[in-house]
Amino acid sequence: MSLSKLTGMALGSIFVPRARPKDFTAEEVAGSAPETAFPRGFLLGAATSSHQVEGGTENDWTDWENTSYPDGKPHIHDGTKSGLACDSWNRFDQDLRLLQELGANAYRWSVEWARLEPEEGRWNQEAADRYKSWMDQLAAAGISSMVTAYHFTLPRWVAKDGGWQSDRTIDRFEAFVRRLAGAFGKLPDLWCTVNEPTVIAIQGYLRGDWPPGLKNEVETARVIARVMKGHARAARILRERTGKPVGIAHHVRLLHPATWSPLDRVIARVSDHFVNDAVVDCHRTGRIQIMIPGKITIDEAVPDLKGSYDYLGINYYTRDHVRTDFKDPSMSRQFVPASRPKNDLGWDIYPAGLHHTLMRWKRLKLPIYITENGMADNTGDRRPEFLRSHLYAIERALRDGADVRGYYHWSLLDNFEWAEGFTPRFGLYRVDYDDPDRKRTATPAVAVFQEFARKLRAASGAAAGKG
Ligand code: FCB
Repeated sequence: MSLSKLTGMALGSIFVPRARPKDFTAEEVAGSAPETAFPRGFLLGAATSSHQVEGGTENDWTDWENTSYPDGKPHIHDGTKSGLACDSWNRFDQDLRLLQELGANAYRWSVEWARLEPEEGRWNQEAADRYKSWMDQLAAAGISSMVTAYHFTLPRWVAKDGGWQSDRTIDRFEAFVRRLAGAFGKLPDLWCTVNEPTVIAIQGYLRGDWPPGLKNEVETARVIARVMKGHARAARILRERTGKPVGIAHHVRLLHPATWSPLDRVIARVSDHFVNDAVVDCHRTGRIQIMIPGKITIDEAVPDLKGSYDYLGINYYTRDHVRTDFKDPSMSRQFVPASRPKNDLGWDIYPAGLHHTLMRWKRLKLPIYITENGMADNTGDRRPEFLRSHLYAIERALRDGADVRGYYHWSLLDNFEWAEGFTPRFGLYRVDYDDPDRKRTATPAVAVFQEFARKLRAASGAAAGKG
């Protein structure tokens, strides 16, 4: 597979600069009225994942949190462990009240594989009953559920037997999803098979920041391929057995070349294909096509992948600038220029990139859900503007013809942010980790969310009245 085939363009055109969307101005955002563009039935809600909020989960991450790098530094940078997290396992009623207080009509959350199947083939009915009761309670409250089958954590028995480095994990994931379909069937309104296949591979197998802590380009590419095969099988089962729409939550990270140098542009384009396009293209082509130049090329037909998305889920947070760096395993270095506005983790705040992303994949002609979007903001003071500007990005995309059906803010509440521990706070609600009851308190963005939810309801009520 050549570079031009991979990126879908004549080699020469790789050197042609791509449009770089301009930042929105403060006036544009202040003058926006997203509710006038959002379609009826739009899903407006928040997202979480099991390991990050439930507490008491036991999986490959638990082991990772309890161990260190060879130089003694803890795997979790701030030395924390997920532990009791937000104790959502025992406090679902509180989380549900928060969603209601927000005026949300949608919640994206995940089930914990290790809880449901603590040993191969042993199904934990008690845990399944609890999840089922959450689905029922959400439905009774008029809140739709998008349920993710796999959000980063593997049961220990799966991880110990090779994790995503083994084809057996594809079979085991398939078997797990079959049980999910049997246990929960049509209760989730939307199914999401996998959260962020590329992030799983890059963080765990290229950067070595997440379990299993490898730094190996070849394994990275193979892991993406296996996870996508897992997705394809899961999608077929869930669709056949539940009849509900099935998709994936894909992490999109805009990558802009740092300079005009042809090398930076080629590297940015190849990285863009690897990070952003590969997972989307396979729905169209039915092929897994991944290339890490000089290391590995995968070009394999996986027929189940073709048409395996009923919707495209996009997790959008930021963009990076890309500079060539042959010392790095990815041959590039990503950074955020000093002049850019950043969140507490140093991520570029770039709402225009969300509009750009939505326009980029409009051509797929699939419904799009923004399955995650949010910012690390410890004071909570900057989140209101973040939320407004990203809702404006969606408004613009809708006016430009994108079929956006939902927005899930990451996150409902502060939670365990993987290798960053509890330090970054992404929650619409702040969680007091010193309090045994994990008290939740509204941050200033809650008022913005509520106001928008009210306007959206009023606008769709008015539209219904007219109809
Ligand atoms: C995404 C993950 C989610 C959360 C946010 C901040 O990549 O899907 O679990 O960690 O980032």
